Amino acid sequence: MLTPLIAGNWKMNTGVHQGAELVIKLRELIKGVDTADVVIAPPFTSIYHLSHLIADSTIQLAGQNLHWEKSGAYTGEVSAEMLLDAGCRYVIIGHSERRTYFHETGDVVNKKLVAAIRAGLRPIVCVGETLKEREAKKTLSVVSTQLKGALAGLSGGGLKDITVAYEPIWAIGTGAVAAPQDAEEVHNALRELLYETLGAEAARPIRIIYGGSVKADNIDSLMSQPNIDGALVGGASLKAEEFARIVRFR
Ligand code: PGA
Repeated sequence: MLTPLIAGNWKMNTGVHQGAELVIKLRELIKGVDTADVVIAPPFTSIYHLSHLIADSTIQLAGQNLHWEKSGAYTGEVSAEMLLDAGCRYVIIGHSERRTYFHETGDVVNKKLVAAIRAGLRPIVCVGETLKEREAKKTLSVVSTQLKGALAGLSGGGLKDITVAYEPIWAIGTGAVAAPQDAEEVHNALRELLYETLGAEAARPIRIIYGGSVKADNIDSLMSQPNIDGALVGGASLKAEEFARIVRFR
């Protein structure tokens, strides 16, 4: 049994003070809870400040994105090494909002994954289909292509630190959560793909988490599925009480 991972993706929300208030509340609410690894991904501007506030807690920080180069003339970008230096242990890669609004291709996602592993950050790699693709019964082929693209050329020790996030695009921010059995079917297929492409030893520790309208009132049924190892939570991670309840899933 893998330790579940519950990650909160704050997206482009919260200033420094608001983020600090949220973390201080969350820290208290989940004190002593050891059911899951808890990660939050605040905006870059809050990471360093929050790294001090989480120091005595079990909360860990993630970047929401990174650039694949270590440093250099890439205006507006942040590297894996910088995230690590600022206090992150994780980074989200290939979120559908990055793929859609910032035109991130499979190749870019792969480069970012390589960079994260090189730096010792734990990547959370997102895959997911659109509604049109789901209706055309292309879900499994779309997510498999995305995952294979992300993992292209990768092998070795760093792979064990990868988490895969299955996030159907039609479920993100819409309130339309995937039915637990439908999500389970996709997770199961992704798990098989990991075993096929990486081998059992590398694939075994990889967590596959679900994202897309996860809330306090649907987390328990999602977590009851055998291949759902946690959740990537957007909107509900901005409310300390609700996120704490998600962390304490049953
Ligand atoms: P949501 O976002 O929980 O607000 O649907 C999930 C995500 O984008 O990771």
